[in-house]
Amino acid sequence: LHMSVSPALTPYIQELPRLPSIDISTGVQVTLGVYKVSRSVHPELPNTTFYCYGTSGETASCPGPNLEAKKDVTSYVRFENHLTDESHLFVVDPTLRQAKPPRGGIPLITHLHGAETEPKYDGHAEAWYTAAGDTGPAFVTRDREFLNQQPETLLWYHDHTLGYTRLNIVAGLLGLYFIRSAHEPPNLPSGEFEIPLVIQDKQFLPDGSINFPTKSFNLSVSSAPNWCPSYMGDVILVNGKAWPFLNVVRGLYRFRILNAASARTFRLMFSDSRVKIVQIGTDGGYVWTPVELADIYCPPAYRLDLLVDFSAIPVGSTIFLNNSYMESLATNNPTTARLVMKLNVVEGLPAQNVSIPTSLGPAPNLTEVISQAAYRQLTLSTQSEPYLREMLNLRVWSDPATEMPQLYSHEIWDIVNLNGLGSHIIHLHLVNFLLLEWQPVDVLKASRGLCSLSKPFGEPDSCFTEAPTPAESIGWKDTIAVTPLHSLKVLVPFFPRSGGSYNFDATAFPGYVWHCHKIDHEDHDMMRPLVIQPASS
Ligand code: C2O
Ligand code: CU
Repeated sequence: LHMSVSPALTPYIQELPRLPSIDISTGVQVTLGVYKVSRSVHPELPNTTFYCYGTSGETASCPGPNLEAKKDVTSYVRFENHLTDESHLFVVDPTLRQAKPPRGGIPLITHLHGAETEPKYDGHAEAWYTAAGDTGPAFVTRDREFLNQQPETLLWYHDHTLGYTRLNIVAGLLGLYFIRSAHEPPNLPSGEFEIPLVIQDKQFLPDGSINFPTKSFNLSVSSAPNWCPSYMGDVILVNGKAWPFLNVVRGLYRFRILNAASARTFRLMFSDSRVKIVQIGTDGGYVWTPVELADIYCPPAYRLDLLVDFSAIPVGSTIFLNNSYMESLATNNPTTARLVMKLNVVEGLPAQNVSIPTSLGPAPNLTEVISQAAYRQLTLSTQSEPYLREMLNLRVWSDPATEMPQLYSHEIWDIVNLNGLGSHIIHLHLVNFLLLEWQPVDVLKASRGLCSLSKPFGEPDSCFTEAPTPAESIGWKDTIAVTPLHSLKVLVPFFPRSGGSYNFDATAFPGYVWHCHKIDHEDHDMMRPLVIQPASS
């Protein structure tokens, strides 16, 4: 099963780049286009053709520019589609449910992941549009108004087109989006000491082009093209460069990590245990209590806000950032996928007046809302049809909506992964949630009817057993990995994070979605409508 597709490339010979950044807090509309461009990911590889976001074809970058927003200041962004090609960079799988532009062209729609956004600005999977002006059934506008009223955090924007998302993101359509304010915790490293890291895996061919398999590795289906259930690359890119290096001084840094891979989970570790890692934030912003981590567990679409302390490391030392997580379905070279980045500790002055905070605010008190929350159980499973389609609650995208929570209510979602091989990465649009419980499930016993999935842990005949909640899953999340044969219970408030009520109609057309963020799964029916119902009076 383990195979290497990409040509061998010497790691750590190019410096980690800083991504370009654009201030979107000026009140003036910013236009970001999608362009087909040629960029270098490594000096030993010919240039690669990408689809990239940028203000022009010359400046477009993969990842796209960092968008810098301010809390409570509306950002106005127009997303233009300049892809005039008739056919995609990669083979579009005709067996998938997908956008079908009548005049051809590459359909695109941008979603701001983690944002509290009005439905028409959310980037619904069927709100796509082409350069020629064809539009999907949920299309409203190419313009966006992002209110930025949620707490300060790191979001990311990426393509979300039905049946194309996995292709468009691997082709380069993603970027970071920061919400900042004047009231953030003091004494955090900033400027050159704040390092955004966008981590991805890709496969390359010797001519520099990205390889996207048109046949699945692990299926006996012979007709090509068909769906690859989990795209895994054997080259690891950070900020668009293969295995870069970074020079650091002896001091405190803030690393803002995004895993933008299709399906690969990373567990990152520094090769020198004297490097101290403290997590201060997650998808939804700062955590209330910073927590020291031994390693960095980072499934797809997770954002981690970390303080990393190199002050105990002598100048002249070399440290490797390695990945130790290999899922059983990982089909690509496990040797090269272990390497991520190299850090050289060099002479220089560390950031001044910085420190690791011990508390970042009060923990939410949820006892009462938990006792009143509505409960729903959702299963994640693989179907036995030829393409091993993945499903949410045994339903497909086009089935009528079933997740229809009431605006201004709380729900507990009990998400059960019946698959024994891989995690599913569950993401809800609009809202943040909190992990309440993480429990192993006895699926074998359940399938024989010897225990019940509908009985909660603690009741006789329950299929659930007890396990401690993982430390890295603290804080407000918009994406969470449901590990094989486990159940997660999350508390989902259908409220804005800053309290009060939404300053827009969250029940409006075209609604929201929830889905698996293994993007291959999302594109093969592991996505469902999330329809918010008006609050009952
Ligand atoms: Cu990161 Cu629905 O997406
Ligand atoms: Cu999945």
